[in-house]
Amino acid sequence: MSLPLAHMHDPVASPLAGSDLSPDDMRALEAEIHALAREKDAIILAHNYQVPEVQIVADFVGDSLQLAIEAQKAPQSTIVFCGVTFMAESAKVLNPGKRVLLPNLSAGCSLSDSITAESLEDWKARYPEHAVVTYVNSSAEVKALSDICCTSANAASVVRSLPQRKILFTPDRNLGAWVAKKVPEKEVVVYDGCCPIHDVLRTASVNRAKQGKPEAVVIAHPECRADVLEIADEVCSTTGMLSAVGKYPRAKTFIVATEHGIVHQLRRRHPDKEFVIADGCIGCRMHCPYMKMIDLVMIRDALARGKHEVDVPADVAAGARRALERMIAVPRDVPARPASAGPAS
Ligand code: 13P
Repeated sequence: MSLPLAHMHDPVASPLAGSDLSPDDMRALEAEIHALAREKDAIILAHNYQVPEVQIVADFVGDSLQLAIEAQKAPQSTIVFCGVTFMAESAKVLNPGKRVLLPNLSAGCSLSDSITAESLEDWKARYPEHAVVTYVNSSAEVKALSDICCTSANAASVVRSLPQRKILFTPDRNLGAWVAKKVPEKEVVVYDGCCPIHDVLRTASVNRAKQGKPEAVVIAHPECRADVLEIADEVCSTTGMLSAVGKYPRAKTFIVATEHGIVHQLRRRHPDKEFVIADGCIGCRMHCPYMKMIDLVMIRDALARGKHEVDVPADVAAGARRALERMIAVPRDVPARPASAGPAS
């Protein structure tokens, strides 16, 4: 089968090109993608929020930390990154000798856009003694100005691992506040960015989703506001949610406070459970438009035509690599400091 090669996708103007394919066309396209990936020596990585058909065709699906590590381990010479720009950029920074392709260059991130190199310089000037910990949802330029990166899976461990007591956490204020609570021995100043998809959620919406299901377990992403995290039974990264469900063998229903794309993996791993997305407002799904900008036709085009190659200037990449590699070297579960240990230096 041969489908027309797609042009850059405009999510506002048209639905995803692959979404109106028949099941037979879909299977043929998947086979074409697998054959092209073999021919081009490529691995396909996808984030947990991608549309189900993209997750199905990917070689590996995971959270930001897993994807960064997987990109580093991959023996293939090409990485097709099905996620958003900052993730593909990180894969390139960690693998300067590999070709990294992002099937749709429009796939940005509002949280990442909330901090620029200039605004971080301003904050650093205000807090000159603070170690800068930057969430991976940020540009390579911002990472290059940071001491170390973190993801939602390792943020508390990263902060605990640092010798400094004073921390400037950027750019997500909700994740920063959650880390400050988890690591009370540090003095954490938090930048004021946020992910609008998570930040819109309130406890009232979570409670509405729980109505009639008082036994339901609430699992939340740490990009949610403090009031939501307060009532959550589990706070974890997207992949952390997949294993958190296993801790509640008797629970039937889980209220999920994050982007709805995660439900595909949750249902795949736990087909006997019910998952209800805690919507941001009445009738408004927790939906990140950027995470839905890649479809199968675009992946096929990425492989066939080398679209769109991600590049990061060498000097920026060197600084960002230092911050990312430092993060990857932090052990997964740096233990909390016992209360008797006294203040950190
Ligand atoms: P995870 O690293 O938990 O997958 O989160 C990524 C993200 O962008 C959340 O909005």
